[in-house]
Amino acid sequence: MNGNFTYHNPTRLHFGENAMESLAGELAGYGPVVMLCYGGGSIKRNGIYDQVVAALESAGKTIVEDGGVMPNPTLEKLLDGAAKAKANNVDLILAVGGGSTIDYAKAVSVSAWCEEAPWQKYFTRFEEPSCRIIPVGSVLTMAGTGSEMNGGSVITNHAANLKVGKVFGPAVFPKFSILNPRFTFTVPRRQMVSGIYDVMSHIMEQYFSGTDDNTSDHIAEGLMRSLVVSSRAAVENPGDYEARSNIMWTATWALNTLIAMGKTTDWEVHMLGQAVSALTDATHGMTLAAVSLPYYRLIKPHGLGKFARFAKNVWGIAAEGKSDDRLADEGLAALEAWMREIGVAMNISELGATEAMIPDLVKATFRLDGGYKRLTEEEVAEIFRQSL
Ligand code: NZQ
Ligand code: ZN
Repeated sequence: MNGNFTYHNPTRLHFGENAMESLAGELAGYGPVVMLCYGGGSIKRNGIYDQVVAALESAGKTIVEDGGVMPNPTLEKLLDGAAKAKANNVDLILAVGGGSTIDYAKAVSVSAWCEEAPWQKYFTRFEEPSCRIIPVGSVLTMAGTGSEMNGGSVITNHAANLKVGKVFGPAVFPKFSILNPRFTFTVPRRQMVSGIYDVMSHIMEQYFSGTDDNTSDHIAEGLMRSLVVSSRAAVENPGDYEARSNIMWTATWALNTLIAMGKTTDWEVHMLGQAVSALTDATHGMTLAAVSLPYYRLIKPHGLGKFARFAKNVWGIAAEGKSDDRLADEGLAALEAWMREIGVAMNISELGATEAMIPDLVKATFRLDGGYKRLTEEEVAEIFRQSL
């Protein structure tokens, strides 16, 4: 394990079919006014809204409704929500939904009482909050982002053609999250698969960095193997509780800071994918899938040992008599076959991107240093061309 680090994750998780029973106990720890954040209405159709409202009412809470959080939440929505949270002096923000709703709730929590413009402070200068932070709790309805146990918050500014993620410290992590795998059963298949690829990408983007034999890499390999097995079962039968619960738990551990401990991390696929989302508003996990293979094939020579290890330890490819280069290619071929099998987007054209957008996509892509190679602008453009 490289370097010195402090590991602290303050989010309390309640997991399983009866997890909602723990909500009452959590609510007792907060004041009377709860802002209930949710998305476009799926929770009203599948009954989760009624369960949450019943728990809030029996706890005697005043509910401030804040629905309509869109996938890829926008800066405008954030500013409205922050004004609402401040005007109602809310004691707790309860996010009921997927990553978009939870990310949004965190952004509201640090913006309501912030004297400065949130976009500039958090998503441009990447500062930590210096104001009062409203506590956030979550009821997760879709597996993928890990937002239920991390400080991530990704906001889209359409006027600037940017989608930017800020990773806040533990003060902004949800205080608690309710994880009932059954709540994910109504997620549409395409959205489920997008979430599964998002999880895979989170793990790969922490794994494909550094050359040491790190405990975090071994944990990552186990999480990837579990995800591949469970994703196949869930695609075959979305009602498979064991598969859906494994995916939900893997998603949480994929991005709750654990597997980033003691190693460097990459995150360039997220930078490329976020650029695609900024311009097309496409579904997050699909944007990652669509750019991944051209990216990994480009950086492969710079991290050959890890790519060969990925082939052996994640995909079970026999190594005898093969060069690292051949093994690495076979590992990426196995990744590609799995992506096609579960049905993710394989190119950015199907997500609405065009060749004419490439200059703007390049401008919207942050180029990071943590992976095997810092990309040049021309390489970024080439990855987008190959992803079309
Ligand atoms: O809005 P509703 O009506 O609820 O429908 C949602 C939405 O249309 C639907 N859905 C969610 N749970 C459902 C359901 N439909 C039926 N039944 C259910 N139980 O699914 C759609 C997508 O929801 P969304 O929250 O957008 O998905 P996801 O969880 O993938 O979140 C994506 C957002 O999270 C950010 C992404 O950039 C994107 O903005 N990320 C956040 C991260 C973090 N906090 O660390 C890291 C990730 O890399 C990611 O960037
Ligand atoms: Zn992601």
